[in-house]
Amino acid sequence: MDAFKLLKQDHKEVKGIFKKLESSRPSKAREKGFQQLYQELSLHTEVEENIFYPRLRQEDKLRETIGEAYEEHHVAKLLLDELAQTSMEDGRWDAKLSVLKEMVEHHVAEEEGELFPKAAKALGKEESKALGQQIEAAKKERLAAMRKEKRASRETARGNGQAEQRTSA
Ligand SMILES: [Fe+2]
Ligand SMILES: [Fe+2]
Repeated sequence: MDAFKLLKQDHKEVKGIFKKLESSRPSKAREKGFQQLYQELSLHTEVEENIFYPRLRQEDKLRETIGEAYEEHHVAKLLLDELAQTSMEDGRWDAKLSVLKEMVEHHVAEEEGELFPKAAKALGKEESKALGQQIEAAKKERLAAMRKEKRASRETARGNGQAEQRTSA
């Protein structure tokens, strides 16, 4: 799949998660939705920053736009981390989510409306496809690593729980 199609698919998925999150109340489902958002956004920004943007930055015409895109990702990640550290019962959680959603929407509109068409012209069909394959492979590898980390931290948590039970017994 070419890089643009792939990245647009990610954008669509993130949009769907935001929609679900905004209409839900603090609950287990919302917790799960947020974890999904966290994972999707982290993964997407990571592959763009490591594979997609470095190539596009080589193009004189795109350099400034890419510089801004990196900064927008940076701010999105700050908000995402703040959300992770804020209780969903706290009114600021909803406010932060709204701001993050607006930021991401603005960023995606710029990518799809301006950056991608220019980048497609600069890269050509062959390179777009090759880049897409590279992104797909990196996503798979990173996703597997994330799942492994999650499993390991669940096991540590379980281990700690057992240790606590032993001390309190
Ligand atoms: Fe981006
Ligand atoms: Fe993107």
